[in-house]
Amino acid sequence: MTTSLIILAAGQGTRMQSDQPKVLHQIAHAPLIAHAIRAGASVAPERIVVVAGHGAEAVAKATNEAAPEAQVVLQSEQLGTGHAVQQARSALEGVTGDAIVLYGDTPFIRPETLSAMAKARASGHAVVVLGFEPVDPARYGRLKMSGDSLDAIVEFKDATDKERAITLCNSGVICADAAELFSLLDDVTNDNASGEYYLTDVIAIARARGLSCGVVTCDEAETMGINSRADLAAAEAAFQSRARAEALTAGVTLTAPETVYFAHDTHLGRDATIEPHVIFGPGVTVETGATIRAFSHLEGCHVSTGAIVGPYARLRPGAELANNAKVGNFCEVKNAEVGEGAKINHLSYIGDATVGDGANIGAGTVTCNYDGYFKHHTEIGARAFIGSSTMLVAPVRVGDEALTASGSVITRDVEDGALALGRARQTTKPGLARKLMGKLKAAKMAKMKEAK
Ligand code: UD1
Ligand code: CA
Repeated sequence: MTTSLIILAAGQGTRMQSDQPKVLHQIAHAPLIAHAIRAGASVAPERIVVVAGHGAEAVAKATNEAAPEAQVVLQSEQLGTGHAVQQARSALEGVTGDAIVLYGDTPFIRPETLSAMAKARASGHAVVVLGFEPVDPARYGRLKMSGDSLDAIVEFKDATDKERAITLCNSGVICADAAELFSLLDDVTNDNASGEYYLTDVIAIARARGLSCGVVTCDEAETMGINSRADLAAAEAAFQSRARAEALTAGVTLTAPETVYFAHDTHLGRDATIEPHVIFGPGVTVETGATIRAFSHLEGCHVSTGAIVGPYARLRPGAELANNAKVGNFCEVKNAEVGEGAKINHLSYIGDATVGDGANIGAGTVTCNYDGYFKHHTEIGARAFIGSSTMLVAPVRVGDEALTASGSVITRDVEDGALALGRARQTTKPGLARKLMGKLKAAKMAKMKEAK
C-alpha cells in the first residue's frame, strides 16, 4: 500500500517573533520543513504535499531544496488545520492509498511511530491518530476514548472541564485512506470556539459514519512542536544529544560529546575521533580513522582516512583532504584538494588550490586567490616544499618537488624541481645596530634632563 504525506506549514508562528516563516527556522542547519519531510521519508511517500501560506514562496524554495519531488500548495487564508488539509486535495487527485498529515513545525516523529500507525491502520482502523501524554496537557486537543477506540478529539477551547481533565492529547499526526480523509473533511464545519475548520473533527464524523478510529502513542519528546525561540533551542539540544548518541553507537570516539555540534547531515566514519568543541556545519564527511582535534570548525568538506585536522582548524566548503593529510592549528582551507600525506601545519590560508601528495606547506603560507573581482587557482605539486610565509599570488603553479624560499612572494610559475626565491637579498652591516641604539639612547637621556 502506498502512503502520501500532507505537511501543514501555512502558519505564521507569531510567537517566534520573526520575519521568517516558522518552518524556515533551522535545527542543525536544516529548516524545520526539511526535518518534517525527513521524518516522513520513512514511509517512502508516493507523494509529498506541503501546504504553505505565510512566506509561501520561501517555504516552497526550502521544500524544493529538501525534496524536489514535493508539491507545494497554497493556503492563502489560515482557516484551520482541516481547511489546510483540504488544500492538498487536488495535488493528491488520483492517488490511492493512505495520507499521513504531519506538521511542518514538528521535526522529530520517528519511523517506528509512523510504522506503528500503519499497523494500526492495517488492523482495521479507518483513521489513526498519534497521541501522547504530556507532562503539562496545557492547550492540546484531548483524545476521548472508549476503551481502545477513539470517539472524538475535542479542542481545549471547546472542551468541558471533564474533557480538559483527560491527559491523552492529540499530536496532530493523523493517518487515513486519502480519499476517505477528504470525504470526511467535506463534513467539517467551522462552528466552534475558534471559528476554524478543525482537522480533529474528522474523528467524530468518522464515528458517526460507523468507522473505527484508533490511537498510537509516543513520547512527548517526539511530538515536540516548535512555537517559540525557546522551543527551537530545546529542539536543537534534543537533536544534538541524539546525534551524539548515534555517533557513539556507530563507533565514533567523542571525548567530550556534549561539546560537539553536528549538522543534520554530518557523516562520521567508524573509529573517527572527535575532540572537544568541534563544530560541524552542513555537508561534512569524516572517514574512518580520521581525527578532528579540539576547537575546529568544518563545513562542506571531506576528510579522508587517517587525516588529522586541528586543533583550531577551519575547513570551509570544498576542502577535500586525502588520506593522512594534515591541517594544523590556525589554518583555513577552502575549495582545495589536499593530497595524500600533505601537511599544512601552521597558520596558513589555502583557498582555491590543489596541493599535491606529500607536499609540505610552511607556516604562514597564503594563497592570494582573490584580486578583488575574481578568484584564481594555485597549484602546488607533489612533494613540493613551500617555505614559511610564502605568498602564492594566484593564478600560479609550483611544480612537483619544487621549493620556495621562506618569505617569497611567488607571482610566476615555478617548474618541477626548481627553487624559487622571491624576496629581497639580505644585507648585513656589522656593528650598525649598536651604533644606532646608542645614538637613540643618548638622545632620550638628553630630553629627560631638559624636562627636569
Ligand atoms: C492542533 C490540534 C490540536 C493538537 C495540536 C498539537 C487542530 C484543530 N488542533 O492545535 O488538537 O493538540 O495541534 O500541536 O487541529 N496550520 C496550517 N493552516 C491552518 C492552521 C494550521 O497550515 O489554517 C498548521 C500550522 O502552521 C501548524 C499546524 O498546522 O504547523 C498546527 O496548527 P496550530 O495552529 O499550531 O494548531 P493548534 O491550535 O496548536
Ligand atoms: Ca501548535
